[in-house]
Amino acid sequence: MPPAFSPDPAETIILALDRPDAPSALALADAIAGLRWVKVGLELFSAAGPAVVTDLRDRGLRVFLDLKFHDIPATMAGACRSAARLGAELITVHACAGSDALGAAQAAALEGAASVGLAPPTLLAVTVLTSWPPERFAAELAIAEPVSAHVERLAALAVAAGLGGCVCSPLEVAALRAAHPQPFTLVTPGIRPAGSASGDQRRVLTPAQAMAAGASQLVIGRPISAAPDPAVAFQACCAELG
Ligand code: C5P
Repeated sequence: MPPAFSPDPAETIILALDRPDAPSALALADAIAGLRWVKVGLELFSAAGPAVVTDLRDRGLRVFLDLKFHDIPATMAGACRSAARLGAELITVHACAGSDALGAAQAAALEGAASVGLAPPTLLAVTVLTSWPPERFAAELAIAEPVSAHVERLAALAVAAGLGGCVCSPLEVAALRAAHPQPFTLVTPGIRPAGSASGDQRRVLTPAQAMAAGASQLVIGRPISAAPDPAVAFQACCAELG
């Protein structure tokens, strides 16, 4: 079941804890009053492991575990079962793992959460990584259809396998929302509040634009974490959504 949509802006924002170790990640989270959701990605998890997820949950934070699993069905299932048992409420998998693997992952996530008395997590499918330039995507992978069509194909595969949502860039959110109404979850990175630096993100939307386009929740990293005062930057994002 997807996380219930909440009009509370603080429930909408997921802070990317892109930090090299647990102490700095936990310090960032602790500095932000009212923070509800955090994203643990490959960098932090590789350094700090499952313990950091437990530490964040012990603080009352909800965790998006963004490890982008992609493997054979049995391994995908095992990874998602473990992630769900850990208490991650949003978990990413690659849609291109295929329908067998996605179905196995979904079933195992539900089973894992139930085995420890937790609510079922939402598996989010990653479609085409936004770091692919379209020409190179076609040339290196020999995929003839446009990236946008491929994104929609992979999202449909995820839906058919019973997944509850997708991660999608600001480029894709409106098209995916048109094809997949609420409560299908669309989590969107590439968010930049008005006036903040875009950094290495090529296409960006403001928090309000992304929500208007159909996003369910927003991943925001550096506009908050690299701000002079992350707590103030978080509150400014909430105010923009309120
Ligand atoms: O700092 P920034 O707001 O750009 O952080 C965005 C977060 O979302 C990072 O953790 C990044 O890995 C992730 N992400 C992204 N673009 C995608 C998928 C994930 O920026 N297409």
